[in-house]
Amino acid sequence: MKFKKNILCIGAGYVGGPTMAMIAYKCPQYKVTVVDINNERIDQWNSDDLPVYEPGLDEIVKEARGRNLFFTPDIERGIKEAEIIFVSVNTPVKEFGAGAGMAADLQYWEKTARQIRDVSDSYKIIVEKSTLPVKTAQAMERILTSDSSGVRFDILSNPEFLAEGTAIKDLEYPDRVLIGSRYTQSGLKARDELMEIYANWVPDERIITSNIWSSELSKLVANAFLAQRISSINSFTALCEKSGADITEVARAVGTDSRLGPKFLNASVGFGGSCFKKDILNLVYLCKHYGLEEIADYWESVIRINDYQMGRFVLTMLGAMFNTLAGKRLCLFGFAFKANTGDTRESPAIHISKRLMEEKVELVITDPKAMNNAMKDLDGIEGNVSYVEDPYEASANCDAIAVVTEWGLYADLDFKRIYESMVKPAFIFDGRNILDHEGLFEIGFNVFPVGKPPLTHFK
Ligand code: NAD
Ligand code: UGA
Repeated sequence: MKFKKNILCIGAGYVGGPTMAMIAYKCPQYKVTVVDINNERIDQWNSDDLPVYEPGLDEIVKEARGRNLFFTPDIERGIKEAEIIFVSVNTPVKEFGAGAGMAADLQYWEKTARQIRDVSDSYKIIVEKSTLPVKTAQAMERILTSDSSGVRFDILSNPEFLAEGTAIKDLEYPDRVLIGSRYTQSGLKARDELMEIYANWVPDERIITSNIWSSELSKLVANAFLAQRISSINSFTALCEKSGADITEVARAVGTDSRLGPKFLNASVGFGGSCFKKDILNLVYLCKHYGLEEIADYWESVIRINDYQMGRFVLTMLGAMFNTLAGKRLCLFGFAFKANTGDTRESPAIHISKRLMEEKVELVITDPKAMNNAMKDLDGIEGNVSYVEDPYEASANCDAIAVVTEWGLYADLDFKRIYESMVKPAFIFDGRNILDHEGLFEIGFNVFPVGKPPLTHFK
């Protein structure tokens, strides 16, 4: 079959896989190929056991794979054949040298740029899908035009705003698709070509355009705003616990102001995920680079509050359980950084587990999707950790349960049965406020929500 266009995506991760699956699903007229240096990942994408868990993903991959969606390890061939190349490689925080612990590590990005330059023998549109520091497109342009082959490229910025767990919905009905380009004739033509792809399913008014630097920066700013909202609501939880106010009621009262809106106001143990912290650190680094110390400090405080909140959760457990956790058996309900994903990158559960191990607890971990990742994350940590699929079995003989991930299934458990199997006095620390606190208290639990006064049976 002759396809209208050949699209390639370099990087078959959480973003590359689902975004390309959606393009292929919605646009059977395009051939979409996804490549990766990690052959095992490619094999998984070609199997029934996809490397990414996302509700609805299996169905669209099954529909498009082999029709116009292909996963292959042959990167060079993919580059040669493509007219449009999305680059969706990872851009983690740099762990060495200048900017260590803050700046984006662009080594994967640059390798890709060089490979595209070395292999290409015809004009291509390169689309930045990864989240990148402002002005990365300029570096990309400089690399791509640094030999004498005469092959032309246009670079576009098209950041991805999907959230894990809702990736398919976010991709199918995005709030917006942002495309940044150079305002040259060739840049605008490239932009139109990319718009044409999205126009297959995204309404015109939701496809917005900007200059390329605004687009790169908007992605970092969007994540910074979202994370800031969580730190803002979390910053009031301690005050609520002390004063008798209820953070859920406060959030509702604040969120009904149409200028603020109700979303992203769920108080929690803190935010996790591969991007919020990394992108804010990246923004902080950029500000420092430009000598904007006050701005850097302002945004860094979003991370400081998040670290404080995770630490505070452990201190609440310690204080509630008579200032010693040593030898006590504690069950973590959830290890993923949020519900509906198996991803544990930067999950608060990692931080909380490590702190609890320092307190010498016996830790039991349960999660419906993230057990393998949890085992990897805690590999080599000294102490007593076990992994139990079934939440009833996991919590039996425990002194306390801590809800770390907001999996819906935890709210539906038979807590009477759980209470009976636990050591007394039994404690529940609801780091997500998803349980029926009054009901648990009546069963006999001592209940510690986030941002609400505790309910205890102690005089
Ligand atoms: P990921 O680690 O899941 O996937 C990246 C993939 O790129 C890996 O499979 C890796 O093997 C591959 N790769 C690295 N170098 C390569 C190379 N030279 N050639 C071919 N493949 C290579 O990362 P991700 O979560 O998909 O994130 C990718 C980018 O998207 C990041 O910049 C991230 O900030 C951004 N982003 C992520 C999310 C999210 O929810 N995870 C959402 C929006 C944006
Ligand atoms: C986030 C953004 O929401 C996406 O728009 C963005 O594309 C993505 O980062 C990215 O660049 O990687 P994601 O991290 O997948 O998506 O998930 P979120 O739903 O944003 O949740 C992040 C963390 O905040 C989770 O740990 C979640 O539990 C926590 N959270 C979220 C709260 O504690 N309270 C809330 O009200 C909302």
